[in-house]
Amino acid sequence: MSVVVEREFEFTQQDFSMLAELVTKHAGIIVMPEKFDMFYSRLARRVRALNLANFKQYCDLLSAGNEEEFHHFINAITTNLTSFFREIHHFDYLKSTIIPGLIKKNASSKKIRIWSAGCSTGEEPYTLAITLKEALSADPNWDVKILATDIDSNVLETASAGLYKEDRIAGLSQDQKSKWFKRGKGANEGMVAVSQELKDLISFKRLNLMESPWPLKGPFDVIFCRNVIIYFDRETKEKLVERYTDLLSEEGHVIIGHSESLNKANARLKLLGNTVYQKIH
Ligand SMILES: C[S@@+](CC[C@H](N)C(=O)[O-])C[C@H]1O[C@@H](n2cnc3c(N)ncnc32)[C@H](O)[C@@H]1O
Repeated sequence: MSVVVEREFEFTQQDFSMLAELVTKHAGIIVMPEKFDMFYSRLARRVRALNLANFKQYCDLLSAGNEEEFHHFINAITTNLTSFFREIHHFDYLKSTIIPGLIKKNASSKKIRIWSAGCSTGEEPYTLAITLKEALSADPNWDVKILATDIDSNVLETASAGLYKEDRIAGLSQDQKSKWFKRGKGANEGMVAVSQELKDLISFKRLNLMESPWPLKGPFDVIFCRNVIIYFDRETKEKLVERYTDLLSEEGHVIIGHSESLNKANARLKLLGNTVYQKIH
């Protein structure tokens, strides 16, 4: 027996296909058919806010080139799951191996440049900042900059504010909590604010990775692009990784998520293990 779902707004397969195509074309994100309900629930809010009668009208609005709504549309569709010290082995490796290597390699410039591409609400770049601060504590004169980018302007607002529910940092050591976060008071009770010292290392910018050229200059010593390319098709992924490699410094590293792979796509990168890749030429 098939179940008929009562919906507030009519949403047809044709509407879904049109919206899915738009997302793929603009953001590179491949949309599987099982995302039908997710599209409905995330976008019904927009249809309601705009006082539209159905999804067909919403599709028409986007097709007509309404830029402001397109922006809301992309923000609603991205998947932003993240956490502090997610896949902690990457930060352990950065601290134990990559940074000591950079301390030697970049001894004369004393610069380290890192890019968190697809940074979501900021937990990844703040974790990078903590890791760098800890690894460089013996010599605070290093010039460290972290670029953190995402296509979604909502997550970037959260990231720049650096204000999180206290349970988000439950996994950090007591020392890390007291050193890098301040407990919120009054209206911010139950929240923690990231220290200014960490914030000062990071620039948050809106960037669609599908854009070309990118309005940024390398080289980067390390590029974190974790749990982003999983949503892209093979060709898009390969092109993106080529562009990352172009922007890497000599022997620089690209780090992707544990469930992602580069399928030996790039002859200039060597897999070191645990989805950490190094530029070889
Ligand atoms: C699942 S989150 C990953 C966050 C973080 N890197 C991590 O691993 O915890 C994926 C992020 O990639 C962003 N994203 C998806 N497509 C993008 C694109 N074309 N350009 C830039 N960012 C994109 C999404 O907005 C989302 O915030």
